[in-house]
Amino acid sequence: MTSLQILVGTTSGNTEYLADHAAELIKQQLQIEVELHYEPDLSELDQSQPWLVFIASHGAGDYADSMLDFYDQIQQITELKSFPYAIVAIGESCYDTYCAAGRDLDKRLAQLGAHRLCQGLEIDMLEDDPEQAVEQWLPNWIEALRSYTQK
Ligand SMILES: Cc1cc2nc3c(=O)[nH]c(=O)nc-3n(C[C@H](O)[C@H](O)[C@H](O)COP(=O)(O)O)c2cc1C
Repeated sequence: MTSLQILVGTTSGNTEYLADHAAELIKQQLQIEVELHYEPDLSELDQSQPWLVFIASHGAGDYADSMLDFYDQIQQITELKSFPYAIVAIGESCYDTYCAAGRDLDKRLAQLGAHRLCQGLEIDMLEDDPEQAVEQWLPNWIEALRSYTQK
């Protein structure tokens, strides 16, 4: 493993801020190159390296604006390589479709053959301290990534 792809699904910027924060923490803790994709395009993503996806739900559980094209792209394929991924889903618990975009993407990536590295994180922007939630969850992800790469 030489690099990490961070995919960002945001409409109003909260998720971008969190992804940037996570990228800094990861760079401090792991000696890997971190590539941030603010408008992910499937053809530009490396499927031999891990993906960490930060995605907010909008509309009625839809993908945030910066990942709408990506949503279309993953409907049109039947397979992905089995790279490890994890999802950080951002939403607000007042919606019936709480974190629905992140949950949908998690299911879709697994269905296409990618490998769910660990239980993802769901952040409720109404209740949680989002930076703290990420800081508490990241060690689990790092541990899972380490055991995966040592296999
Ligand atoms: C119009 C609108 C629709 C939303 N729909 C949902 C939703 O269906 N499910 C959910 O969990 N959160 C929903 N949210 C909450 C957003 O996910 C939350 O505000 C998040 O912080 C937005 O992140 P962003 O700034 O990165 O776009 C919605 C917010 C707005 C403004």
